[in-house]
Amino acid sequence: MRIVLMGAPGSGKGTQAALIVKELGLPHISTGDLLRAAVAAGSELGKQAKAVMDRGELVSDDIVLGLLEERLAADDAAGGFILDGFPRNIAQAEALDALLDRLGQPVDEALQIDIDEEQVVKRIAKRAALEGRSDDTEETVRNRLNVYAEQTAPVVDYYAQRGVLSRVLGDGSIEEVFERIRAVLQLHADD
Ligand code: AP5
Ligand code: MG
Repeated sequence: MRIVLMGAPGSGKGTQAALIVKELGLPHISTGDLLRAAVAAGSELGKQAKAVMDRGELVSDDIVLGLLEERLAADDAAGGFILDGFPRNIAQAEALDALLDRLGQPVDEALQIDIDEEQVVKRIAKRAALEGRSDDTEETVRNRLNVYAEQTAPVVDYYAQRGVLSRVLGDGSIEEVFERIRAVLQLHADD
């Protein structure tokens, strides 16, 4: 199964992907994590990406697509995957479709986690205090939310038009949200 997990910054994509992984045994591919690994490795690409990420903007489609293509070519992705944080604009959604069409493996399920801004700001503030992710500052979070509204939210309609979109509410406990996701995925397991 090839799943795209979508939602605003702090909506719970990473948290829920980890639970879906346990249930379905698919690899979790987060472009944010791939980029943070490149930053930690200190590569030239990582240095370029860090400056953009710390402003809360989108890293260029070329860089992100390169990282993603490389990751999707790994053996463990052949049987399906959970994408988290990609696609983040319409151009990336089209590029993903083109790539997966070539492999004869289209997206089966695009799952949008809906949540209001007030809650994600609270969650990210809490994480900032605990983990200190460099893009979790108040100013950068505000920009990440603006970028999400302008560039990423239209991707939800893109998948709706392709008939693969489901939406779940992202409020409540981690377990409550996961139960909603589990219900959606079971519903579509035989599609
Ligand atoms: P990315 O790493 O994808 O970050 P994001 O989308 O901003 O989202 P987060 O990872 O902050 O949140 P999440 O939805 O995963 O929620 P989480 O589970 O952590 O991207 C970072 C940057 O990289 C981007 O700004 C961009 O610069 C670049 N980038 C990445 N992909 C790109 C792409 N495709 N193209 C271009 N640039 C790209 O939860 C958040 C917190 O809340 C956690 O502390 C968690 O423990 C807590 N939490 C989760 N669920 C609950 C709950 N139900 N109740 C209470 N707390 C909860
Ligand atoms: Mg995440």
